[in-house]
Amino acid sequence: MKIRKFKPKDARKASYLIQSTMKKTFKECYPKKTVEFMASQRSPKKILELTKVRDLYVMQEEECIIGIVGLKGNEIKNLFVNARYHRKGIGRKLMRKMIDLAKKRKIKKVIVHSSPVAMDFYKNMGFKKIRKVNAKTEGHPFHYILMERKI
Ligand SMILES: CC(C)(COP(=O)(O)OP(=O)(O)OC[C@H]1O[C@@H](n2cnc3c(N)ncnc32)[C@H](O)[C@@H]1OP(=O)(O)O)[C@@H](O)C(=O)NCCC(=O)NCCS
Repeated sequence: MKIRKFKPKDARKASYLIQSTMKKTFKECYPKKTVEFMASQRSPKKILELTKVRDLYVMQEEECIIGIVGLKGNEIKNLFVNARYHRKGIGRKLMRKMIDLAKKRKIKKVIVHSSPVAMDFYKNMGFKKIRKVNAKTEGHPFHYILMERKI
């Protein structure tokens, strides 16, 4: 198992990882249509577009991509771990990688827009809740918890 930089050839597997994890885990906190819309925004093509404006890293296990995370400015984004591998320390390793990257860039504080289901994970990683934010993505309602961590 290793963390490495995202390569364009990972786009299809990364898209599958994000879409399937969203569908499994977000259904308990967001309306079905919102989850479907969010998943549609993570097609291979859209992921390739994301790489122009953020750094993406993946956790590779043999030929599979089992985790992904990104850093855009001081915001940690796109953290997803394949549900079969939850609670095995993979999210923690991906998060550490982003904290190290942020440190190298002299960033003093990182933020996340946490899904309700990931809040306890982020708390465990040293993040503090700032506030709950009600948002809409192209008309689809959802909410997230803005959290921050000094580094
Ligand atoms: C959030 C997520 C990335 C965590 O990944 P993970 O690999 O399972 O996390 P780890 O195993 O590294 O967890 C580290 C610690 O965080 C805490 N934690 C992780 N998931 C938790 C959960 N569902 N409930 C409570 N605590 C949790 C635990 O304390 C855990 O340590 P422990 O297992 O030794 O008790 C993963 O659950 C996920 O992909 N969720 C769906 C997508 C998502 O919501 N992503 C965030 C978008 S903002």
